[in-house]
Amino acid sequence: MPAVVIIGAQWGDEGKGKATDLLAGRIDYVVKFNGGNNAGHTVVVGDEKYALHLLPSGILTEGVTPVIANGVVIDIEVLFGELTALSARGVDVSKLLISANAHVITQYHRTMDKVTERFLGKRQIGTTGRGIGPAYADKINRVGIRMQDLFDENILRQKVEGALNVKNHLLVKVYNRRAITVDEVVEELLSYADRLRPMVVDTGLVLHQALERGETVLFEGGQATMLDVDHGTYPFVTSSSATSGGAATGSGIGPNRIDRVIGIVKAYTTRVGSGPFPTELFDESGEFLRKTGFEFGTTTGRPRRCGWYDAPIARYTARVNGVTDFVMTKLDVLTGLESIPVCVAYDVDGVRVDEVPVSQSDFHHAKPIYENLPGWSEDITGARTFDDLPKNAQDYVLAIEAMSGARISAIGVGPGRDAIVVRHDLLD
Ligand code: GDP
Ligand code: IMO
Ligand code: MG
Repeated sequence: MPAVVIIGAQWGDEGKGKATDLLAGRIDYVVKFNGGNNAGHTVVVGDEKYALHLLPSGILTEGVTPVIANGVVIDIEVLFGELTALSARGVDVSKLLISANAHVITQYHRTMDKVTERFLGKRQIGTTGRGIGPAYADKINRVGIRMQDLFDENILRQKVEGALNVKNHLLVKVYNRRAITVDEVVEELLSYADRLRPMVVDTGLVLHQALERGETVLFEGGQATMLDVDHGTYPFVTSSSATSGGAATGSGIGPNRIDRVIGIVKAYTTRVGSGPFPTELFDESGEFLRKTGFEFGTTTGRPRRCGWYDAPIARYTARVNGVTDFVMTKLDVLTGLESIPVCVAYDVDGVRVDEVPVSQSDFHHAKPIYENLPGWSEDITGARTFDDLPKNAQDYVLAIEAMSGARISAIGVGPGRDAIVVRHDLLD
């Protein structure tokens, strides 16, 4: 089973980091293929808690080679900060490989992110403010800076000049900010070059060779399907391809290499930032999920919007990504509820709609149609097999599996590395 993709099946923070960590002992390479330090993955190993942003979660497992592939945008200062902090905690980061084609997030991207959000006013996206959107915009606009440019001062200077040309007019004349000089950007980027040089390689070739040798490569998606720039709730999305197709374009392997696509879902739903969210709760049930599930962002600390499980979204995700297996996390958070509503379809202007509506306006005011499933009160955090779960928890999983378009192969029952019930081997 050589190439496996993990993707978020909702709006992010489903527990992708934990799912990656679960598999990491059996893989040779772990690849981040999209996004940047907008991601936040919390992984709990024993008493230790790690918050990863730019580095793939698989870095926590000894022996795995972590790769930051071409589809990622890299804030180098953040990268060095994470590497130093992990090293100080005894994690071996020496094997990290970075694509020469990955794009760089610079100070002007961070600035543009913040000022454009401010100018959007009520229509703001609620970005993480990390410069992600502006860095991808430059990439598509063909004025981006790539990792390889850091090793050629001449080229770097020309590219920074090109990138700042129009931006400085905007910053000064529209956004009322100071102009950014070419020198300050070039100087900063050049100061990183020596430390980066040994890590920057042709990662597409490295991964191809690994797959040819029959080694196992895990592609770890950041963000999620509903935040994908093509398939998510545009414009309330991130700027990268967070779906399984992004694993191919974002890393330089062929799509026919991918054997398995694992979608991560929470047993309920959360979202950070603006945009439609049909099952969102504004009452004490939402507060219960936020409190019990510790639903506060790993990256920005913002309280996450919380709601019930949405089966049409899972079906949509299964379709868009070709999900072969779901991992459902945080089932333990639902313990203690008498009954648990699950969204099975939407009511759009009085008409029942079974799938995610194609029109964003319809999705904005879609009302969930709920089915109530019986809850359970037993503590499930110690469950390790499906039979250990109380009957109603088993039935909740089975009901959701029947609605969601792929089998649920593992179930999270707590934040720790071992707190998982495996029903089907994810790599087999
Ligand atoms: P990611 O961005 O998809 O990697 O997810 P985050 O790390 O942002 O958010 C998931 C949170 O849920 C983390 O704090 C995890 O430690 C936690 N978590 C993951 N799986 C479970 C689970 O099965 N039960 C509980 N209670 N917490 C979990
Ligand atoms: P992980 O990998 C949840 C959201 C932001 C905002 C929108 C655009 O931890 O699941 P951006 O800064 O990317 O331009 O913001 O996307 N967002 C996330 N929400 N989890 C994430 O990552 C996210 N990364 C971005 O809140 O609504
Ligand atoms: Mg997260």
